[in-house]
Amino acid sequence: MRTLAERVYEVGVQDWDRRLFDELIPLPDGTSYNAYLIKGSQKTALLDTVDPAKTELLVDHLVRVGADSIDYIISHHAEQDHSGSIPDMLLMYPDAKVVTNPKCKAMLMDHLQLEENQFIEVQDGQELSLGDKTLQFIFTPWVHWPETMSTWLKEDRILFSCDFFGSHQACSTLYVQDEAKVLEAAKRYYGEIMMPFRSSIRGNLKKLEGLDIAAIAPSHGPVYNRPSLIVDAYRDWIDEEKVKNHVIMAYVSMHDSTRKMTEYFVDALMDRGVGVKQFNLTGADIGELVIDLVDAATVVIGSPTVLVGPHPSALYCAALVNVLRPKTKHLGIIGSFGWGSKMVDQIIGMLSTLKAEVFEPVLAKGLPNEQAYSELDALAEKIAEKHKALGLM
Ligand code: FEO
Repeated sequence: MRTLAERVYEVGVQDWDRRLFDELIPLPDGTSYNAYLIKGSQKTALLDTVDPAKTELLVDHLVRVGADSIDYIISHHAEQDHSGSIPDMLLMYPDAKVVTNPKCKAMLMDHLQLEENQFIEVQDGQELSLGDKTLQFIFTPWVHWPETMSTWLKEDRILFSCDFFGSHQACSTLYVQDEAKVLEAAKRYYGEIMMPFRSSIRGNLKKLEGLDIAAIAPSHGPVYNRPSLIVDAYRDWIDEEKVKNHVIMAYVSMHDSTRKMTEYFVDALMDRGVGVKQFNLTGADIGELVIDLVDAATVVIGSPTVLVGPHPSALYCAALVNVLRPKTKHLGIIGSFGWGSKMVDQIIGMLSTLKAEVFEPVLAKGLPNEQAYSELDALAEKIAEKHKALGLM
């Protein structure tokens, strides 16, 4: 059995086969739904459950760890990948109470149709004794729902942070082995769901400053036994001023005009020492694009014109950027049209949350001509100047 400390067990489930979350987010490495069992000298607590599709494995793990009784089911977050098995847990352990904050309780009553008398409500900072082990609840809201909270196990100095600091990956090791790989997965996860709430995350990180944390045990991915790895990364990701000399060039092309412009432009950036990654929106892993969105200084969207407006794939990209609200400093639009276009206005209209300087767009009528290539050179030059001015190169 996977043990974090004396009588502290990981009893969750690795979901190796899952490839999509929320029918939206790609999961190239699957995911895990971590749940933890803490046996105190007097009481036993289960911290979170698993996705309802995997309840059977959770039950199996609880039997194997000898969880004859559970007094408390701590619910950090009402989303069903962690709460979905609570109804089955309450059937298996009918004396157990669900311990959570008032917001989460209300959401669990809505999502799982639990009854009021099945809960114990706790407040921020409140403690719950299991005998020789003490749980302290720390409200860490908006990672990524308003009710999210964490639990601090005082005696063993373990922070159970639920989605906060998590990473979508199934893996056989309890603790982080390959730090670079975990950081990339955690960055992808942060970008996909937490980035829009980074001002709240700033407050949550501040709340954790006084804790001498030995390990961070999230609800997805491996446990961090070197907590500064992920805490320092989060500090960088939420810092509005920390952007990289990097351009996201996301494009779609129908008859090669926009593709030719994109390829020329990417070369023009490279010639000037600007980092760039080209994403063909037809088939791109959106999660890869989101990883770059976390700290790229500049985003450029390339689109042809379809029925006067942008290609729907470009609109999808703009909608994604808009909802994720990255700290991107500059925005460019390039593309093509046949006889007329409102493409630029419509893309900019989709990006109302982005606080970025918008460069003069570069549009070609049909295939790009000398003038279009010269304007692309000028745009690349402008971006290089802006990146230099930010001290990025
Ligand atoms: Fe892993 Fe927001 O649930």
